[in-house]
Amino acid sequence: MTDPLALVDDWGPEKIVVVSHRRTGMKGVLVIDNTARGIGKGGTRMSPNVTVTEIARLARVMTWKWAGVDLFYGGAKAGIVADPNSPDKEAILRAFARALSNEVPREYVMGLDMGLTENDAAIIQDELGDRGAAVGTPQHLGGVPYDELGVTGYGVAESADAAAGRIGLALSGSRIAIQGFGAVGAAAAQRFDQMGAAVVAVSTAYGALYDPAGLDVAELLRARDQIGDGFVKEHGRGTALPPGAELTVDCDVLVPAAVQDVIDDDTARRIKARLVVEGANLPTSPSAQEILAERGITCVPDFVANAGGVVAAAFAMDTRYSGFRPETTVIFTAISARLRTNTETVLEEAQRLGVTPHTAGRGLAEERVRAAMVSRGRIPRAPRSSW
Ligand SMILES: NC(=O)c1ccc[n+]([C@@H]2O[C@H](COP(=O)([O-])OP(=O)(O)OC[C@H]3O[C@@H](n4cnc5c(N)ncnc54)[C@H](O)[C@@H]3O)[C@@H](O)[C@H]2O)c1
Repeated sequence: MTDPLALVDDWGPEKIVVVSHRRTGMKGVLVIDNTARGIGKGGTRMSPNVTVTEIARLARVMTWKWAGVDLFYGGAKAGIVADPNSPDKEAILRAFARALSNEVPREYVMGLDMGLTENDAAIIQDELGDRGAAVGTPQHLGGVPYDELGVTGYGVAESADAAAGRIGLALSGSRIAIQGFGAVGAAAAQRFDQMGAAVVAVSTAYGALYDPAGLDVAELLRARDQIGDGFVKEHGRGTALPPGAELTVDCDVLVPAAVQDVIDDDTARRIKARLVVEGANLPTSPSAQEILAERGITCVPDFVANAGGVVAAAFAMDTRYSGFRPETTVIFTAISARLRTNTETVLEEAQRLGVTPHTAGRGLAEERVRAAMVSRGRIPRAPRSSW
């Protein structure tokens, strides 16, 4: 078992709070990683396997995500050790929220992650008697329903368009392959379709569909709504491919939008796209990122391309105490502007330094967090040799 003190490095965590409640059996943890740029914000997850180390890692990812997209919140994450299907879920959730009433919402605002639903966010608000305690509540409570709106997938397509522009590829008329047809993949397909691109391949955990002339996205969305993820086997249009084959089909842009670790060295050598845009978190291994760069394939990192959800979360934070519903067109406009600019900045920086976009993007995020820490007097002005 890792000693929580061993998790502390130059960036954080600043605070780790472990809580428990005997009667409900609730056990959980809040990790506030780095608040130099703003208060802690990151999802709250519920799973029987939550560990302090896992939540600390995810809190660190949030530190880089917020800084990467240049929004003023700090990295944090919370986790509850429980089965999300337990009949005691609400009691456990209420006990968790109560136990963290010193920190929430002054230092950390809860949000959605694995195992928590929009209604759970509403329960947290209710328990603490504060609308500011959680974001991710249903629309009828004034929340921003990220997945329903498809904010992340929309941002992935906007980022892809900006990246395509940099490599001299016109997205309109280009061929796109998408792995995963869930909240991210389906919304990205819709936006690509609107942009005039041809979606030539899509996949789910059940398999893949390929049509070099372009699939009918509206029809795919209807089929998914009616049949679920198995629609790829029953669709009757396009050629059925085995799962994973969509990554190496002939196309211009590849969007992995399903799960992590799908592009290893071997796959990176076989990808035919000129541009890879990471919709999923961590789909490409670091060595595969190097191989793509050596082959002249541009890869837009996850924390740049899938930051649409983070931008929407920043709006949700702003409207927590507002009497007005969040204005969704404003959210989409902001996602487009911010993700396009950030994609261009990161790709330019990668070219300038001769490094991968992942390395360049992480470097920019670190610089921003370090500058905030210096300004607040949290670290000395002179750079430390270890940094
Ligand atoms: N939802 C968001 O706002 C958001 C934000 C940032 C990052 N992400 C990341 O994007 C990814 C997808 O998230 P989501 O919310 O769309 O999930 P989801 O559960 O809505 O959809 C996942 C899709 O991927 C498919 N899939 C699963 N395994 C597959 C495989 N091996 N091959 C092909 N398809 C497979 C599923 O069938 C489904 O169609 C995850 O990595 C997630 O962490 C999501």
